[in-house]
Amino acid sequence: MSRLHPLQAETASAPRPAAPATAPERPLLDVHVRRKSFGQRTVLNNFRLRLQPGEVVSLIGSSGCGKSTLLRIIAGLDPDYEGSVRVNGLDRWGTTRDIGFVFQEPRLFPWLNVADNIAFDPERPSDYRQRVETLLQEVGLQGLGQRLPKQLSGGQAQRVAIARGLFTHPLVLLLDEPFSAVDALTRLKLQELLSSIVREHGVAVVLVTHDVEEAALLSDRVLVLDNQAGGTPKELSISLPRPRDRADAALAALRHELLLGLEAAHAI
Ligand SMILES: Nc1ncnc2c1ncn2[C@@H]1O[C@H](COP(=O)(O)OP(=O)(O)O)[C@@H](O)[C@H]1O
Ligand SMILES: [Mg+2]
Repeated sequence: MSRLHPLQAETASAPRPAAPATAPERPLLDVHVRRKSFGQRTVLNNFRLRLQPGEVVSLIGSSGCGKSTLLRIIAGLDPDYEGSVRVNGLDRWGTTRDIGFVFQEPRLFPWLNVADNIAFDPERPSDYRQRVETLLQEVGLQGLGQRLPKQLSGGQAQRVAIARGLFTHPLVLLLDEPFSAVDALTRLKLQELLSSIVREHGVAVVLVTHDVEEAALLSDRVLVLDNQAGGTPKELSISLPRPRDRADAALAALRHELLLGLEAAHAI
């Protein structure tokens, strides 16, 4: 018998199986997008995502199936949708310090140094410098707080973006293809960094990626979005212990299963 959960459809009308007895009943993040359209085109239709504290969920699916749109809705950057985003049971409209965002490109302010980019927060406390130092150390950039973005490599700039996403002690970190613009070696290092951040901070993560190895390596669950329906994702749960070994045969099996899921979702 397979140790892996099968890919299984999840719909809003057919709730997921009961969570383990130790998991809180109310999810940390509860997203229900009844409908999100651009003009005549519906991109998300009855899409539901629930996240428990510290859980890592990856979203994969072909270009244009609505992954970035979903993250923008969760982050409060796009209020033009039917549905709700709840954090700890409370409705959220607009941006919140409980949710951090890391974009595909670092999006740093070129005129601010690294430290001020990380602490770019209108509500930052007066003693924020210590927080910045701690984060610089965590993302492996100690001593570089005074540099300008143009003095950083692509990987370093994305580390700054991750530190900025964590600055407000968010409960949820959203990452939209965060490593797709860096070279392969840097990508591996940034994946390790994200893995250790999840371990240290206990932050819950929604990671959009095109990389099935990345999804298998980092996630507790992977949702495969269907390009055609614009809604109902397939789901794969991953129970391998962490930290995970890239060379593990079980990870190769998971990658294969994810590719089959992408195929079934018409994404490849
Ligand atoms: N601001 C917008 N106006 C009109 N259409 C948009 C806008 N943003 C995204 N779309 C369309 O919505 C669909 C989903 O986009 P997106 O969420 O960016 O996809 P993904 O991130 O999965 O590649 C695409 O067809 C895209 O062209
Ligand atoms: Mg996108």
